[in-house]
Amino acid sequence: MSENQAAAGGAGSGDAMIVVDGLKRWIRNGSRTVEILRGISFAVPRGQFVAIMGPSGSGKSTLLGLLAGLDTPSEGEVRLDGTAISYLDEDALAQVRGRTIGFVFQSYQLIPTLTALENVLLPYELNSERGSRAEGLARARALLTSVGLADRVEHYPVQLSGGEQQRVALARAFILKPPIVLADEPTGNLDSTNGAHVLQLLLDLNQKEGTTLVLVTHDPVLAGYADRRIVLHDGAIVTDELRRAGE
Ligand SMILES: Nc1ncnc2c1ncn2[C@@H]1O[C@H](COP(=O)(O)OP(=O)(O)OP(=O)(O)O)[C@@H](O)[C@H]1O
Ligand SMILES: [Mg+2]
Repeated sequence: MSENQAAAGGAGSGDAMIVVDGLKRWIRNGSRTVEILRGISFAVPRGQFVAIMGPSGSGKSTLLGLLAGLDTPSEGEVRLDGTAISYLDEDALAQVRGRTIGFVFQSYQLIPTLTALENVLLPYELNSERGSRAEGLARARALLTSVGLADRVEHYPVQLSGGEQQRVALARAFILKPPIVLADEPTGNLDSTNGAHVLQLLLDLNQKEGTTLVLVTHDPVLAGYADRRIVLHDGAIVTDELRRAGE
């Protein structure tokens, strides 16, 4: 699998694709402050596959949203491929995000008025450096085929099951071949056959295209393929371990 040499937990690695440094997130609610993340630091080298685990409410989705620049930290920062994203203005952030990240939300976030194919194609069409529409369509169809949806391309989200919508969201995350893919429970609603398809797609991208993957998952099978496992509990890292060779 990919290079396995990152010092687990260290936040200073020079060739890190993702650096998380002293990240805190709290919410003020009247006079009360709810601490969601309590100071998280780690670095992810290029091409590493990281599984983020931990109980419900431990802060996994909050962390992923901060990695994607969809939320702003209360303290600390996130650097993606050397760029500190946490305090960029909207336009600069949108640029870095578009160039660097594919994101799969826990709630899919498909556009209801677009077909599966159009949803997958959308980031491509919004990208100023895109190739031809024919190229984009071919790639969108190939991705939908690879997640088992070749015969659902013209369906609208409401005509798709939860698991099918999840697979459309995955295909969409990969359309621009981003160097980083962040996914929240990408197999959470899939049966074992489709879960295996999605796992294979993720592993192919990780191994053939060198995509850096950070996945939130409760699935021990999926986590078993990761290079590294980071476990959160109550907003803090309790385990950060590399998978030993041959395990
Ligand atoms: N906007 C918010 N206001 C108040 N509390 C919030 C907010 N967003 C998240 N939280 C709280 O922060 C904690 C972490 O939420 P988060 O969604 O990151 O958990 P999670 O680990 O992804 O859980 P799950 O496995 O259920 O998806 C939860 O207790 C949640 O209620
Ligand atoms: Mg979550």
